[in-house]
Order: sequence, then C-alpha cells, then structure tokens
Amino acid sequence: MLNEDVCERIRQAATIIGESRHLVAFTGAGISTDSGIPDFRSQNSGVWRDVDPLKVASIYGFRHDPQAFYDWVRPLSELMLSAEPNAAHHALADLETAGHLRSVITQNIDMLHSRAGHRQIFELHGHMRQATCIHCFAVCDGENVMRQFLSDGQVPRCPQCGSGILKPNVILFGEQLPFRELQGAQDAARDCDVMVVVGSSLEVAPADGIPLLAHRTGAKLIIVNLEPTPADRYADVVIHGRAAHILPEIIRYVEKSE
Ligand code: APR
Ligand code: ZN
Repeated sequence: MLNEDVCERIRQAATIIGESRHLVAFTGAGISTDSGIPDFRSQNSGVWRDVDPLKVASIYGFRHDPQAFYDWVRPLSELMLSAEPNAAHHALADLETAGHLRSVITQNIDMLHSRAGHRQIFELHGHMRQATCIHCFAVCDGENVMRQFLSDGQVPRCPQCGSGILKPNVILFGEQLPFRELQGAQDAARDCDVMVVVGSSLEVAPADGIPLLAHRTGAKLIIVNLEPTPADRYADVVIHGRAAHILPEIIRYVEKSE
C-alpha cells in the first residue's frame, strides 16, 4: 500500500511524463532485483558485499585469473539466463509502445529490457548475448558459452583459435565503454526533455554522468530508487520505493490522464 506522499509524487511524475515530448529512461541493477537478480551495492544483498570487484570483475583480473571471474559470475549468470522482465521493465516498454518513451539507457547486462520488447536500448556496460576471444577476437554466442560453463565449470576456450579465452561482451572495470552506446546515450541525454532514472546508486562513472548531463541540458529528472542518490537534489520528483510497484502506478496515471 503506497502512502499519500508517494501517491502525490507518482501523480507529479505522471504529469511530467504525460507532458514530455522526448522521454528517456536510465536504469541500473535496482530495476532487476524484482526479477531475482541482486544489485551490486544494496546493504544486505549487493553483489560487491563479499568480493572485491577489481579482483574478479576487472579486465586485469580477468586476464590474470579468468577462473576467478567465471566462478564469481556463475550465480549471476544462472539468475540472468532464467530471469524474466518484471512489472517495472514492462511499464517502461509500455511507455515506449504508447509513444512516450524514445529510448532506454541501461547499465545492466541482463538483457531484460530487450526481452521486455524495447527497440532503442543503449547497453552502456555491454550484455551477455555474445562472448569474444581475447586472443583472436572471434565472436561466439554468449548464452551458449555461459550455459557450457555452467554445465562443465571449465573456463570457455575459443573454438576458432583453440587457445584464446572467451570473455562475455560485458564491460569490466578498466575497460572503455562501447563508443556507439556511450555516444548514443549522451545524445539521448542532451535531446530529452525528461529523464526517468530507475534503480541506480549513480556511483559508477562515466554512466553516472548521464542523468546529470540531461539535467544540465535542461531536462526534468524523475528518480525512482529505494535509497537516496547523489542526483536526488537535481531531480524534479524523487520517489523512494520499489520500481516494480512505482512504475506501473505512474503509467496508470499517465494513461488515466490521456
Ligand atoms: N526498486 C528501486 N530501487 C532499487 C530496487 C528496487 N526494487 N532494488 C535496489 N534498488 C536500488 C538500490 O537502493 C541502489 O541504490 O538500486 C540501486 C542499485 O545500485 P547499484 O547496486 O550500485 O547498481 P548500479 O547503479 O546499476 O551499479 C552501476 O556498477 O558494479 C558496476 O557494472 C556494475 O552496472 C553496474 C554499475
Ligand atoms: Zn580465438
């Protein structure tokens, strides 16, 4: 049950979205926790609570000890391969179908936005759809590579050159973000008049600069997050709550006012 203050904020967010001409969404791991995928920094459940990201999820760590990366990513990839989009993903997809939402910029590698039916997605931190050989750069089907690893526990080797190790096309710490994705996300942030930011602590650069770029270029910000974020003070509406509860309510008000 949502309290009156949250309902008022939902109505404000719906009014801003209903009046927007170029709405863009920006999402983080928090939008997928209701699909069973843990986020990274939540106090009691975040993935980084028990491991040092720079040891297991950096490109240096991967090259030095790929087994440590694959052992770390095992539980996450099991969850991602079986997860379904939740009500928050579907609410954003409905906004795109209704012609309100132009694109989604996401830090998530779980592919749940594409599985919810979005067409224009900027995956800033890559995805698990493909895996690339770090020796000969051959590209393989990422989901098959992960399923193979989940069944035999062996670090996946390249079928092309036979010796190289396959790395999922996710961006590890120390790697450049994919140019096209970052460029597209920055253009979308400059062009939008409203950005709805969902489920991100906004603690990782350069992704965390995207909502601020939108704000600096005149867009209104709506933030839906369980905890406060550094961008809350720039936002027109801040709603601290579960995305899977809040976003469908916002959409309901948008549809009611049409
Ligand atoms: N609804 C709304 N917010 C939620 C929910 C939910 N159901 N569940 C968690 N949150 C919030 C948390 O309170 C937290 O502030 O989502 C935020 C998730 O923050 P992070 O765990 O830091 O995830 P994210 O911002 O996506 O991290 C960015 O860091 O480690 C890297 O590459 C990784 O893409 C990731 C990047
Ligand atoms: Zn190879």
